[in-house]
Formats: sequence, structure tokens, C-alpha cells
Amino acid sequence: MNIFQTLSLVTLSSSILLAVSPKEIDNLESIVKIGNESSILLIKTLGQNMKKSMKSGGVLHALDFCSNQAYTLTQEVNKKLPRGVSVKRVSVKYRSQQNIPSQKERTILESLQSLKVSNVILPNYVLQKIDKNTYKYYKPLIINKIACLKCHGDIKNIELKHEIAKRYPLDSATGYKIGDLRGAIIVTIEKSIK
Ligand code: HEC
Repeated sequence: MNIFQTLSLVTLSSSILLAVSPKEIDNLESIVKIGNESSILLIKTLGQNMKKSMKSGGVLHALDFCSNQAYTLTQEVNKKLPRGVSVKRVSVKYRSQQNIPSQKERTILESLQSLKVSNVILPNYVLQKIDKNTYKYYKPLIINKIACLKCHGDIKNIELKHEIAKRYPLDSATGYKIGDLRGAIIVTIEKSIK
């Protein structure tokens, strides 16, 4: 590499650095932190309760928990978050109508899915700027436990299959395998209210 190439590289990298002001970096960091913490709080809350009901009453009991309490518990988590921050789960292949993504959210989910199909190891999150004060933090949700397959894989348990069909006649959240992208947690963060 000659001196001119070196110089242009230096110029290029410094202009990239200067494109984001230190203040904005600071803001983005705090936005990512809120996204991280909020999504983890939701995952933990739902995961722990699901485990408990699976242990105490088996898979049908756990199904009952998901159907009747996952959404309410999500709302409970939302009450604990700072003002202007909210969290939800969405999927293109949704089971519950309460978890349908908006058209714009769907675009992001489909992009993540096409990266996944191209064998890209997905990042822990992607951050979308909606407007000057609003960001959406997407945490991809991967089918990462055998337990998920009980209700989202090729369901073997006839009674469970029947129960799911009864509760969700339009269910499209089955047929998954380990490693598949199941959906995402979306944290919406309004900066100005923080
Ligand atoms: C006992 C059955 C059961 C198990 C096990 C289970 N789920 Fe679900 N899942 C459901 C039901 C029922 C819903 C719809 C109600 C809800 O949770 O909002 C659902 C909804 C979801 C949703 C929201 C989008 C949608 O389709 O409505 C995601 C994301 C999800 N599950 C991921 C997972 C992951 C990841 C695992 C493994 C860690 C898992 N599930 C394990 C029953 C289950």
C-alpha cells in the first residue's frame, strides 16, 4: 500500500467516525442498553413461568399458561419499564393474533429471515431509527431449546395438537426446527420521554 492509499484510508475512517457525534453515540448506547434490558426482562419472565407450569402440569398446562398468561405478563413487564418504552413479541408465522407484526416490522423480520437463509449468524439485535426520537430494537428469537419444539415443531402429542388447533384455528407457528428464526422481541424506545 502506498502513502496515498494509506492517507485516503485514514481520511475515510476518520470521516466515518465523525459522521456520528459523540453525543449520538452516547444516546445510541443508552438506547441499546434499554432494548437489551427490556427484552431480557420479558424473556426471563415468560421463560421462568413457562418452566414452572411445564414442571407442575406438563405440556398441556404450559400451553394453557402461554394462551392465557403470556400476553398479560407481557403487559405486566411493560408497566415496569420506563415511560416511553414498551416491549412485545412478534412473528411472521404467528400463533396468536396478539403477536402480529405491523407491515413495517414485517419487513425487518423478513430481512432477518433472508439473512438466516443465507447462513448469516444473526446479531443479538438490530436497531431501527423510526424518527428523531423513536427507535425500535429487534432481538431475533431463535428456536434454541428442544422444549420449544414441543409446541412449535412437528407436534407428536395428539392431545396437544388438538388443543392448539382448538385455540388457534389459524395457527402457523409449527414445523420449526432447532436453529430456525421464530420471530423477534421488539422494544420501542421513545427518547424524548426518557
Ligand atoms: C407449551 C407450548 C409452548 C412451548 C413449549 C413454547 N411455546 Fe411459544 N407459544 C405457545 C403459544 C400457545 C403461543 C401463543 C400465545 C402467546 O404466547 O402469546 C406462543 C407464542 C410464541 C411466540 C410469539 C409469536 C406467536 O407466534 O404468537 C414466540 C416468539 C414463541 N412462542 C417462541 C417460543 C420459543 C422460542 C420457545 C422455546 C423457548 C417456545 N415458544 C415454547 C406455546 C408454546
